[in-house]
Amino acid sequence: MSDQKSFIFVETCKGVNGLDKVILREVRGSSAEIYLYGGQVTSWKNDHGEELLFMSSKAIFKSLKPIRGGIPICFPQFSSHGTLDRHGFARNRFWSIDTDPPPFPTSTSSKAFVDLILRPSEDDLKIWPHSFEFRLRVTLGPGGDLMLTSRIRNTDVKPFQFTFAYHTYFSVSDISEVRIEGLETLDYLDNLHNKDRFTEQGDAITFESEVDRVYISTPTKIAILDHEKKRTFVLRKEGLPDAVVWNPWDRKAKAMPDFGDDEYKHMLCVEAAAVEKCITLKPGEEWKGRQELSAVPSSYCSGQLDPQKVLQG
Ligand code: BG6
Repeated sequence: MSDQKSFIFVETCKGVNGLDKVILREVRGSSAEIYLYGGQVTSWKNDHGEELLFMSSKAIFKSLKPIRGGIPICFPQFSSHGTLDRHGFARNRFWSIDTDPPPFPTSTSSKAFVDLILRPSEDDLKIWPHSFEFRLRVTLGPGGDLMLTSRIRNTDVKPFQFTFAYHTYFSVSDISEVRIEGLETLDYLDNLHNKDRFTEQGDAITFESEVDRVYISTPTKIAILDHEKKRTFVLRKEGLPDAVVWNPWDRKAKAMPDFGDDEYKHMLCVEAAAVEKCITLKPGEEWKGRQELSAVPSSYCSGQLDPQKVLQG
């Protein structure tokens, strides 16, 4: 183990195309990378150096295009409504390092964290006429857990509404070997069927074709089990009632210029989100939404995450 005094927990450097990025490291070997472009986590590695997030080999790291992979931030809207970009503009804006964020109610013992901030530009105010401060803290815990906390404050003189998602792309060995536990028996809106409402059956969710759903009012814990890797991702969320599940499968994959034809086999998006009901912020009010990810040996969660038990957990 490295000497804690000389260990570099946070480093700023240049990434792809000279874009600024921040690297977080923990003494046991885990790491995460965050681009100021998009305020986007692009890498999360465990203490064996294995990448846990999917990043497309065709991802475009250039301004105005979102980066295909990692954890894009969808704000001020999820999906596409009106004239705003699909999934909002936060994912293709340059964020800044926030050197003096207001204190968090619960302080972290971790030294590997970064605070970012996004304020709207004059041009942003033309397409979404609401003044805000969006503060994002990304923390890598000593055990390698990855925490994202968003605080959005209305700095305007009138209320505004928004929807939100942490559009997390998990790296999986083979999508047909993966299942999700924690969403059984819940209602979802199916984007492949005019956003109609359906009810999930009692079994864990598995994948054999395109899936694009918004699960409504889910438990706070969801597990993604990867049998081949013998790994389970556990997603915990606060302030984010919904969960989006997306895999484009082969046909949509081929239609996306920044995504390899076969890459759908190795990714799965499970997104902590507030989509079904808009969040309203009055002037001066602040909203907080948090997502915590951990990767644990597979058998740990299997079968234990039925919604009732999770709700009590
Ligand atoms: C998902 C949506 O969250 O994001 C899908 O549910 C969408 O409908 C997908 O296709 C990717 O969106 P984008 O804008 O990043 O290509």
